[in-house]
Amino acid sequence: MEGGVLTAKRLEGKVAVITGGASGIGESTARLFIHHGAKVIIADVQDDLGNSLCQELGSNDQTIITFVHCDVTKEDDVRNAVDTAVSKYGKLDIMFNNAGIVGNLSGSILEANNEDFKRVLDVNVIGGLLGAKHAARVMIPSKKGTILFTCSAVSVLVVGDALHAYVASKHAVVGLTKSLCVELGQFGIRVNCISPYGVLTPMLRKGFETMDDTMIEGILSQASNLKGVNLKAEDIAQAALFLASDDSKYVSGLNLVVDGGFTTTNPALLNAVVTATNLPMPPQ
Ligand SMILES: NC(=O)c1ccc[n+]([C@@H]2O[C@H](COP(=O)([O-])OP(=O)(O)OC[C@H]3O[C@@H](n4cnc5c(N)ncnc54)[C@H](O)[C@@H]3O)[C@@H](O)[C@H]2O)c1
Repeated sequence: MEGGVLTAKRLEGKVAVITGGASGIGESTARLFIHHGAKVIIADVQDDLGNSLCQELGSNDQTIITFVHCDVTKEDDVRNAVDTAVSKYGKLDIMFNNAGIVGNLSGSILEANNEDFKRVLDVNVIGGLLGAKHAARVMIPSKKGTILFTCSAVSVLVVGDALHAYVASKHAVVGLTKSLCVELGQFGIRVNCISPYGVLTPMLRKGFETMDDTMIEGILSQASNLKGVNLKAEDIAQAALFLASDDSKYVSGLNLVVDGGFTTTNPALLNAVVTATNLPMPPQ
């Protein structure tokens, strides 16, 4: 089944840059992309982690994966990451703008810190914009390519934890995805984003500092809509694989929400009824 979902190596011959590829979702995606035959550039600020991941994933063939130090807020770094893909592997097929930060967790707007707000927008939005710009620079002449962003379920549903900068940044990523999709369609370039529910990564752990992984997963599972399964970084990597591969060749402008229906569900009314009537809580 040529080019279909049953193809064993769905990214054979493709070249990908993954920002924030040294950890969490980016790292899982690098593993999966390599498994599917892609050549991968890990672009991250965590040099030690990025280099050791390259050592591990390239243990049989060091030519398939490269680490590039890249702060996505610095245009020269992003330009260099893209140019490294072209000079080393001859082209760029997939630009995965995944690097992100959550910013200050201090809460209320009254404690909002301008510098923190700017930093979150810089990494999550300007970083993605620069990634898209330099990817488009090399993709437009070849009239193909795919640009992806890691967005968040907070682009659909705000859970009320006052992460204003983070929420604003992820809404901006959806807007950027759609706007780029419209401009770049004429060049055969697809642009999509992925919005995960909570995934246990170093970023998420930062928000639950006093808890161990089992407790955090318990909370995510309790709050989830889809029971019997916990969302993993590998599941987001699978969504990225789909959007990066030819299996999604006519998909563009999509915010692919990977949340088991979490953002479709609002249990507030039911919970209020249960509280008011002292009925037993429905199973969660
Ligand atoms: N973990 C979750 O629950 C969750 C949910 C929704 C969306 N996301 C999004 O997923 C993406 C990946 O996050 P993660 O959960 O894997 O966290 P993570 O902290 O494990 O990975 C983020 C990576 O981005 C890198 N990074 C940070 N700032 C950078 C910069 N300026 N330049 C280059 N790299 C930089 C970090 O070094 C790190 O390797 C983020 O965009 C995040 O907003 C995560």
